[in-house]
Amino acid sequence: MRKFEFYNPTKLIFGQGTLDTLQTEVPKYGRNVLLMYGGGSIKRSGLYDKVIAQLTKLDAVVTELSGVEPNPRLSTVHKGVELCREHKIDLILAVGGGSVLDCAKAVAVGAKYDGDMWDFVERKAAAQDALPLGTVLTMAATGSEMNNGSVITNEVTQEKMGWGSIHAYPAFSILDPENTFSLPRDQTVYGMVDIMSHVLEHYFHTDGNTLVQDGFCETLLRTVIETAPKLIDDLENYELRETIMYCGTMALNGMVSMGFAGDWATHNIEHAVSAVYDIPHGGGLAILFPQWMKYNLSTNPARFRQLAVQVFGIDPSGKTDEQAGLEGIEALRSFWDSIGAPKVLGDYDIDDSDFGVMADKAVRFGPFGNFRKLNREDVVEIYKLAL
Ligand code: NZQ
Ligand code: ZN
Repeated sequence: MRKFEFYNPTKLIFGQGTLDTLQTEVPKYGRNVLLMYGGGSIKRSGLYDKVIAQLTKLDAVVTELSGVEPNPRLSTVHKGVELCREHKIDLILAVGGGSVLDCAKAVAVGAKYDGDMWDFVERKAAAQDALPLGTVLTMAATGSEMNNGSVITNEVTQEKMGWGSIHAYPAFSILDPENTFSLPRDQTVYGMVDIMSHVLEHYFHTDGNTLVQDGFCETLLRTVIETAPKLIDDLENYELRETIMYCGTMALNGMVSMGFAGDWATHNIEHAVSAVYDIPHGGGLAILFPQWMKYNLSTNPARFRQLAVQVFGIDPSGKTDEQAGLEGIEALRSFWDSIGAPKVLGDYDIDDSDFGVMADKAVRFGPFGNFRKLNREDVVEIYKLAL
């Protein structure tokens, strides 16, 4: 393991009926609340009315920012920052999936910064402060509810990039699995692919002696694999939604990734695709991750063999590490096929015409990936494999 410090200040409030805790959490920060949400799912599910009822009971002064896009836009962040200043906001309350939460994080730091929040994304400046943020999660996927990361799309430059700050952790996050019942089947699948991809990004690292962490990661993967087929046929099953919601938070809140640095190349490669084509993040990962794996199998075949054996139950006897590892990659592909995840870039009508543009975006900050450094040419090769 490498040296590490673990810090995660988010208060996680998990379970049925936990929306009521807004009564104790919100007053800690003040009366002026900016309520942020997406394109209307919370109105259709009834969650919006429940949140408003809670805030009304508290006598809160509510300003709303609705219409946060999937793959949230910088212009929406700017709107939020203006609203915070105009209405002297004390607390941002984000109700939605990862996109709403990520946008809210950007607004929270942007409201305390004199320049353009995009400076943080471009690494030109580092956030020094933020408004407090509370979240009510409606989709298990990103882990944004308990991490300090956020991904923003600059629609003018067609860039989609992640940034993070110690000031971007939510102060509290309310996770009631019932709030994910209304998530449609396709988004449920994208979410589960994203969760598995976060674990896989951790799994492919080069640090030594991570026995416990490997076990945590393998358990998360096996759990999603066992739960996913049941959940897609039973979308309002509380226990299945609960399991996946817990997996989603644990996959990217730092708990299973202490003491090593995961790879994270595939996320970078996917963000470049969704920057140009505005596709769902989990859908892009389902296409790209198996191809990244095939491209990197020879980097450390033993690691792929371990994944194949521990997660997919592949029998390694009489096989080389590469052979067993490849069977594991194929098992992952078959599993994602079986739950209806996209397979090739053509599923989103993407051909090779923008491979160069996307690869340039992916290497914006230079070669990347901790398992193996990738350069522009490597990225183009992986896109080609995904055609
Ligand atoms: O906008 P609304 O109407 O709310 O609809 C959303 C959206 O259309 C809908 N939805 C969410 N909860 C629902 C629901 N529909 C019905 N019932 C519900 N309960 O689902 C659609 C997708 O939502 P979105 O928030 O975009 O999905 P997700 O949570 O996957 O977030 C994706 C974004 O997060 C970034 C991605 O790149 C992408 O921009 N990521 C953020 C990370 C982080 N902060 O740590 C890490 C991830 O790797 C990822 O990159
Ligand atoms: Zn992700």
